[in-house]
Amino acid sequence: MPYAPGDASKGASLFKTRCAQCHTLGAGEPHKVGPNLHGVFGRHTGKAEGYSYTAANINKGIVWDENTLFEYLENPKKYIPGTKMAFAGLKKEKERNDLIAHLKEATK
Ligand code: HEC
Repeated sequence: MPYAPGDASKGASLFKTRCAQCHTLGAGEPHKVGPNLHGVFGRHTGKAEGYSYTAANINKGIVWDENTLFEYLENPKKYIPGTKMAFAGLKKEKERNDLIAHLKEATK
């Protein structure tokens, strides 16, 4: 199953509870434990400036888009073995669709 557009407002709440302790989304916002995700769509893995990634994340070498994020967020450690992102994953397709719909708007 690929990405299907979800509910961005539900995605915003999911981001707050599941991702915001480690990530910011807006232009110029600081990195936290994880990188600032501004501009992540259309960008290669491991390219947020000034953030110290693992080699595993950098060398994954894919471009982030709706479908790569959809697969990654289900099980980050399976998609990028060796990542330091301590997040078990969002198993529900609907939650990933809602979250990615929000990310598309909030990382522009
Ligand atoms: C406990 C902290 C933590 C949580 C929670 C977390 N992340 Fe991460 N995230 C990280 C870290 C650390 C990295 C860098 C991984 C590396 O370098 O191996 C990362 C990397 C990423 C990347 C890759 C960025 C790039 O430029 O290649 C994406 C996309 C991402 N996270 C999205 C999310 C989303 C969406 C959520 C919520 C569902 C989330 N993360 C939850 C810490 C976290």
